[in-house]
Amino acid sequence: MRYDHITELIGNTPLLRLDPAVHGLTHVELYAKLEFYNPFGSVKDRVAWGMIRDDLDDIIAGKQTLIEASSGNTAKALRVLAALHGIGLRAVTNRIKVAEVRELLQLLGTDIEELPGLSECPDPTAPNDVYTVIESTMARAPGAWYHPSQYTSEKNIEAHHHGTGREIHEDLARDGITRVDYLIGGLGTTGSTRGTATFLRKHNPEL
Ligand SMILES: Cc1ncc(COP(=O)(O)O)c(C=O)c1O
Repeated sequence: MRYDHITELIGNTPLLRLDPAVHGLTHVELYAKLEFYNPFGSVKDRVAWGMIRDDLDDIIAGKQTLIEASSGNTAKALRVLAALHGIGLRAVTNRIKVAEVRELLQLLGTDIEELPGLSECPDPTAPNDVYTVIESTMARAPGAWYHPSQYTSEKNIEAHHHGTGREIHEDLARDGITRVDYLIGGLGTTGSTRGTATFLRKHNPEL
């Protein structure tokens, strides 16, 4: 298959039916949405692209740099997608647990601001809260930064509503399955589970 741009490879990931001999559940059809097929390796590619796509011209015109709270996957995708347009990225985080993730971000040229602390999720009561640090950084240089803000952006949820959720529904519907009973996902910002679930709930409110 031929593509003209790497962003065309984001989404439309495979939905793999897991063999019951492997999962051992009876009367259950279990599928895995293989988000690691996204070009930068995770579900976060959808969000990164969804949050900057429409604003690229303004970010370039304003000579802005992206600033985002991310421990790895969002930053990885944002860094490359922005760099394609000459835009830089500062990733603010206190949660990089795997040295290789830090090294990869550095290799890609990410400006990483690592904070002490336990939780990356925004918590205004915590010292070194990532969002407080981002806000004070932006306040010191008005207009210099663009904050996609994956924890608050509706575009995060939309990327999964129109993308992940719709894809799961359409792939299953082709096989005559129109109802999903359970969606199991990991929680960070909750964008992937909320966006996917709101689409699937249109077809089964009890999901
Ligand atoms: C691979 C992967 N899956 C899931 C999540 C969580 O997704 P969300 O932020 O949509 O809740 C993250 C990020 O936290 C992630 O990197």
